[in-house]
Amino acid sequence: MLRQACLRTDVLPTDRVRDLPPYQAVVLGSAVYIGKWRKEAVKFLKANEKALAERQVWLFSSGPTGEGDAVDLGKGWRFPKSLQPIANRIWPHDIAVFHGNVDMKKLNLIERWMIKNVKAPLGDFRDWEVVTPWAMAIADVLKGASIMVRETQAEQKIPQGDKNEK
Ligand SMILES: Cc1cc2nc3c(=O)[nH]c(=O)nc-3n(C[C@H](O)[C@H](O)[C@H](O)COP(=O)(O)O)c2cc1C
Repeated sequence: MLRQACLRTDVLPTDRVRDLPPYQAVVLGSAVYIGKWRKEAVKFLKANEKALAERQVWLFSSGPTGEGDAVDLGKGWRFPKSLQPIANRIWPHDIAVFHGNVDMKKLNLIERWMIKNVKAPLGDFRDWEVVTPWAMAIADVLKGASIMVRETQAEQKIPQGDKNEK
């Protein structure tokens, strides 16, 4: 959606992000496993807290499966408690919870056992009708921000005619 909105966008696993300075904004998400974010996402969030606090950030989790509201399905879960202090310091625009996708073929034996134990519905419950407008709202914010930057730059330029005025 961000690319469709003509925003230059890289989609990367967290361990492939070398440096944050080139990025104006970060959308960071993780799957939820037993109420926690994946360790790679946690590592990224902790290691880049300062840089993230200086950027526009959106956070999301992919987790609950089944029909109905994602937060209700997760019994009110919105974000890992242990990471909330970091999120508070970063001031993200939003922290979203989206429906997830449990694909038994991708799970190891322990994960299969765990998912059977919690009796979570299996299958792809990702709801693109929720995700798409969320992403479009991000694009709107970022496009608004770049227009503001351009307008400020234009305002700061001295008009040609003014140069010789006393
Ligand atoms: C072992 C296991 C534990 C899970 N625990 C949770 C959980 O605590 N809360 C939740 O909302 N979803 C949970 N899920 C669902 C996953 O977060 C969801 O399927 C996610 O979309 C998986 O993304 P991935 O395919 O990128 O790993 C769990 C799934 C598995 C397999």
